[in-house]
Amino acid sequence: MLKGDFPLKSFEGVRTPFYCYDLQLLGRTLDRLQSILTANPDYRLHYAVKANFNPRILSIIASRGFGADCVSGGEINAALAAGFSPDGIVFAGVGKSDEEILLGLRKGISRFNVESEAELRVISELAVSLGTKARVSLRVNPDIGAHTHANITTGLAENKFGISYEQLENVLQLALNLEGIEFKGLHFHIGSQILDMADFVALCNRINRLRSDLEAKGLPTGDINVGGGLGIDYMHPNHKDIADFEGWFGTFSKFLDRRPGVQLHFEPGRSIVGPCGTLISRVLYVKEGTGKRFAIIDGSMTELVRPAMYKAYHRVENLSSEGPETVYDVVGPVCESSDVFAVATTLNECHRGDLIAIRSAGAYGESMASGYNCHPLPESLFI
Ligand code: LLP
Repeated sequence: MLKGDFPLKSFEGVRTPFYCYDLQLLGRTLDRLQSILTANPDYRLHYAVKANFNPRILSIIASRGFGADCVSGGEINAALAAGFSPDGIVFAGVGKSDEEILLGLRKGISRFNVESEAELRVISELAVSLGTKARVSLRVNPDIGAHTHANITTGLAENKFGISYEQLENVLQLALNLEGIEFKGLHFHIGSQILDMADFVALCNRINRLRSDLEAKGLPTGDINVGGGLGIDYMHPNHKDIADFEGWFGTFSKFLDRRPGVQLHFEPGRSIVGPCGTLISRVLYVKEGTGKRFAIIDGSMTELVRPAMYKAYHRVENLSSEGPETVYDVVGPVCESSDVFAVATTLNECHRGDLIAIRSAGAYGESMASGYNCHPLPESLFI
């Protein structure tokens, strides 16, 4: 959405900071995904709920018939409340509690993505106690470094996620033999905000080799879940507002060896909801610092932690001003020196009360908001 397209009139009277979601863009994004999935009947898409679990956003995604990738009992409940079918819910995470596992079993979710032998045994015991079987995929640590921020790579051997290659064969044998387990496939995820398709090609190559090795030993591999991770263009939200889904799905269809009857699962989060969200905030003060000028806004790391946590870039725009371009550090009110949205960024001249847009904040924005400094959680507005 271009700067001039934000409906400033409908923002009047809304307490800032708040999240503004462009539902037209979300709709266009989902249309694009739906057409890819329709053309590929063996693809399954599970939206990564952690990216944004705003109930309205969730129900819009659920209404398209997609599945949900959840990482807690809370997310499973949020997904069910939004209308996702239990049969489309997959449950990942290295530390699933007994209570969460029991919830998943009772609701009849479609997959537990299991991350260790110890977890596999507990899930089996709990399933037996309920007289059922848990449908399980084994999450493999692919030992692939994605070219992204160190805090959001998940597929390296040193990361806590997944089962290592060395242990995989034994854990797979166990999964085939435990009474409460129905083995369904293998799960992978290499990281997030990945724009270089070569990282996904590397993942395909790993999966191909691993599958051939296991099959040569007479072991099944089942459905393949390649996780999420497709990045978005934070620099140019106005020019490229839909992620490169064709490139992403196309990479897997080109480089991953396919087997008839085998499903291919995807778990995108950021690429679906990132572009459609904007954090709207107000200028409280303009302050001259030593050698710099600060635009102090009422939004902070409590509404959008990504810049403070990962030094992530989000484009900042002054929606209220056409004044001369001026350089500012855009900062929030929180008592942490990392509470900074942008350093030496150019904005139309700022005045107290101007509305500031922090773009591409639909993923890992509202869902990571906190109440630090007794800040209330942000409201959301849909346009
Ligand atoms: N599947 C699994 C197993 C995951 O761990 C994740 C994200 C996804 C799918 C979805 O990945 P996406 O398509 O959104 O990249 N808070 C960080 C991102 C953390 C991602 C964690 N896992 C950020 O703000 O950049």
